[in-house]
Amino acid sequence: MEVLILPHHDATAVRAADIVEVQLRQKPSCTLGLATGSTPIALYNELIRRHRSNGLSFSQAASFNLDEYIGLDPTHPQSYRRFMNDKLFDHIDIPITATHVPNGLAENPLEEGPAYEAKIREAGGIDLQILGIGSDGHIGFNEPTSSLGSRTRIKTLTEQTITDNSRFFEAGEAQPHLAITMGIKTIMESKRILLLATGEGKAEAIAATVEGAITAMCPASILQWHEKTTILIDEAAASKLQKRDYYQWVSTQQDALVRKYRPSDLPEGL
Ligand code: GLP
Repeated sequence: MEVLILPHHDATAVRAADIVEVQLRQKPSCTLGLATGSTPIALYNELIRRHRSNGLSFSQAASFNLDEYIGLDPTHPQSYRRFMNDKLFDHIDIPITATHVPNGLAENPLEEGPAYEAKIREAGGIDLQILGIGSDGHIGFNEPTSSLGSRTRIKTLTEQTITDNSRFFEAGEAQPHLAITMGIKTIMESKRILLLATGEGKAEAIAATVEGAITAMCPASILQWHEKTTILIDEAAASKLQKRDYYQWVSTQQDALVRKYRPSDLPEGL
């Protein structure tokens, strides 16, 4: 795993946007895996800015989101489809028909998972998957004890996740307890993974992900097994890592190697 520690949230968003930009420039018809939650909003804002000011184009790209609440209409303010339209898709040039979010209103929700898997396969798989992380180590809505070999399916949310996400819902508003989420195996099949986490509230989950044992109790820990995962975090989220200094040292070495031997991995203008 590559662990990049930057001073603050905004710096992680700029660095994440660099990685997305390089992906889009190297393969304009790439497939992006996208995440919701408060963490990637700054990344999406930076991508919108680059689209408007630097001509970064998504016109040939496709996207697949990680998850959606069961029972919420796509226009519901808390649905993840609405979130993605509002926070990103409505402001860039990706064709809306090339954007995919699991259907939380599928007539038969048990069939939605396999159907979503088939669409990802037809698209040729995910080139770059963006992930956030829950305070309990979940990715997508793969809660602790989710099968590490799971596929897109329905998950029952834990009390902790429901509480963590209740801040987005109005007081008294019904909050779904079920979601449809890409499985852990589905996520692991992405060619490249970029996990973003900021703030002290994520420090424990990040320590378990990077330095703990691989266990279904911390679903993100499976990323230790992935060939090309970057954990992009701020100082606060890094605060419980034991080998922080080593990760900083590795980054310096790695940056020098990329500048010398693979400058095409740098965003335009650097
Ligand atoms: C939800 C989403 C996850 C996201 C997590 C953390 O549970 N399903 O994909 O990573 O929230 O959200 P936040 O970034 O707001 O902390």
